[in-house]
Amino acid sequence: MLLTDPPYCSGGLTRTERKAPPSRKYQQDGYAKFADFPGDARDERSFLRWCALWMSECWRILPPGSSAVVFSDWRQLANTCDALQIAGFVFRGIVPWIKTAARPQPNSFKADCEFAVWATKGEIDRKPTPGAKYLPGHYEHAAPREREHMNQKPVALMRDLMAIAPEGGVVLDPFMGSGSTGVACAETGRSFVGVEMTEHYYSVARARIAETYARG
Ligand SMILES: C[S@@+](CC[C@H](N)C(=O)[O-])C[C@H]1O[C@@H](n2cnc3c(N)ncnc32)[C@H](O)[C@@H]1O
Repeated sequence: MLLTDPPYCSGGLTRTERKAPPSRKYQQDGYAKFADFPGDARDERSFLRWCALWMSECWRILPPGSSAVVFSDWRQLANTCDALQIAGFVFRGIVPWIKTAARPQPNSFKADCEFAVWATKGEIDRKPTPGAKYLPGHYEHAAPREREHMNQKPVALMRDLMAIAPEGGVVLDPFMGSGSTGVACAETGRSFVGVEMTEHYYSVARARIAETYARG
């Protein structure tokens, strides 16, 4: 399967705000400072086109029937759903990740959700045969308290989401950041192919995955 969390190119209501570096957009005062990463300043049209390009490459290499699960925030949700379909995937649904410890904001609805968009390469078996999996429609997990990447996803959430794929299969994450998808693969006995553009986060991911294997 494809399970990935690309740069959202989001985090602001205006174009100027969205072009700010991730360390300014996604970190609140008082939080530890994390290394910046590239690719987060595309405008709406470029984001859609760019996603369609890399998703098309993923579609090309995935076996028929594979799942693609791609994270998005509320601002880029429509673009992410569109890009998956432009790339050739069948759009199957949206799985909210509810962040149990999100902070309330004054005079606002709490922004306590990100979204995993689910699509497949063609048809899937939806018959209620023995061994069929019945997965939840949303997941609740706190964002990791101990983090090495400002957008780090909980390993437990990645484990939950990869349950859609066959046991022992291969998971691809072309934007692995600190390697949470790889850690979840190591924990569940799946093979992992991860790609990361920055040397910093590549090293962080390698170390976290190696540590997981070392723990047995
Ligand atoms: C949102 S983060 C992923 C965080 C990850 N889910 C985790 O738990 O740590 C996206 C990552 O994609 C990387 N990235 C951006 N553009 C890339 C590209 N074209 N190819 C590979 N990695 C890229 C960034 O450096 C960043 O670390």
